[in-house]
Amino acid sequence: MSSIFRLDRRAFMRNAGATAIAGATGGLVGGTSPAAAQSSASIPRLPNGKYDFDTPYNRVGTDCSRWDSPALRYPEGVFKYGMGVASMDFECAPCITEALQERVQHHNWGYLSTTEPLRDGILKWNGERHGLDLDPASIVISDGVYPGIIAALRSFVPIGNKVLLTTPAYSGFYSMARAARVDTVDSPMLYRNGRYEIDWDDLESKMTADVRATIVCNPQNPTGNVWTEEELLRLGRLALEHKVVVLADEIHSDVIRAGHKYTPFASLPDEAVVNNSVSFNAVSKTFNLAAMKNAYYYSRSPTLLARVNQYHRAELSTLGVVANTAAYRDGAEWFDQANAYMDDNHTLVENYVKQHMPDVGYTRNEGTFMTFLDFSKVMERIGAEAMAASHGNDTAEEYFRDWLTHQSGVYLNPGSSYGSGGEGHMRMNVASSRRVLREACEAMAAAVRDV
Ligand SMILES: Cc1ncc(COP(=O)(O)O)c(C=O)c1O
Repeated sequence: MSSIFRLDRRAFMRNAGATAIAGATGGLVGGTSPAAAQSSASIPRLPNGKYDFDTPYNRVGTDCSRWDSPALRYPEGVFKYGMGVASMDFECAPCITEALQERVQHHNWGYLSTTEPLRDGILKWNGERHGLDLDPASIVISDGVYPGIIAALRSFVPIGNKVLLTTPAYSGFYSMARAARVDTVDSPMLYRNGRYEIDWDDLESKMTADVRATIVCNPQNPTGNVWTEEELLRLGRLALEHKVVVLADEIHSDVIRAGHKYTPFASLPDEAVVNNSVSFNAVSKTFNLAAMKNAYYYSRSPTLLARVNQYHRAELSTLGVVANTAAYRDGAEWFDQANAYMDDNHTLVENYVKQHMPDVGYTRNEGTFMTFLDFSKVMERIGAEAMAASHGNDTAEEYFRDWLTHQSGVYLNPGSSYGSGGEGHMRMNVASSRRVLREACEAMAAAVRDV
């Protein structure tokens, strides 16, 4: 791609999307080119010792999928707020930028020799934060959770057999299953007293002989559930009984709200259950390093681990390893502050929705920086089902995504991509500066108020 095209495209992004926010927020774009904004050294802390999550950090025109992809989807310029894709808007932990700056001083990019410092960081982070005592030999560094789970599905689920998902479930699980050429079966969760719960009878009835694996997402994307030890044990025992391997996707494990606790599947007090599982994690959700292509998986069972490894080959990048290593080694304080900020953001959205959007259903999150809002009443009022058919959208939720972007500028992810139970819902990302979040809420409220 020529540099001229890139510049033009960035100018287009700014015009199509977030210049509107710049005006509204008093300078998200503010005339400064994204490149100039990015080139400044990592931000110092504020005088009170805190990192600054309040000042909106301009990502527009940096080829980021959260802000730039919707701008391309709506070239007419209605898009303003990228509140979908699960990446944070914050400027990253300074220790990451510093480590990268140091590495780029050396101008040679031949093959990487070792990932040992990263492995040490994984052991320390999981040990100190989550009480997980991992055997270093059981940890496999990967270039993403996707490649790890795809390898596991290839290994455990013969083509034409199935992986079981408790739904609504992360849309990526369906893509992973497609990539591994295996089928999926949904077990829709029950919604009881404002919380999503596993429908145990349904789940067990779906563990048929052709179901060979299940993905347990903890914390759960998109509902925000943080599963208790009791729930995980019950699920693990059912899986063991029915010869279903548990793939524990714990990529959101650090983003836990106050009052909740993440229980690593590998720490459950039942050896047989643990030995029937492989866990997948990454530094990327904790420190917003998704494009640095790095993750890891481990299992207490050498047999299961070896079977996944047969189908897995990590293609690691030096800069990715540098960034991920620095984050786990030196980024704890940044993350703790970011997590507390996002927790308060959840509260902001909860209060705002309850006060100003009475027709929108809110579920209190226990973890993740996503929230799953129920717009079914609004969708019914605008006739989203019928409109989807006439507008060429596959689902009512996809029509509603477009409707909401046109009415409010806010882009959310349609619930229909998360399997059964996602009907009427939209997934919203709260990992933004509070100003952007509040403006997005206000814009949505104004759009749905009068329909
Ligand atoms: C539950 C879950 N698993 C996996 C991923 C993607 O992981 P990776 O980017 O490491 O492939 C995401 C990204 O949002 C996710 O939410």
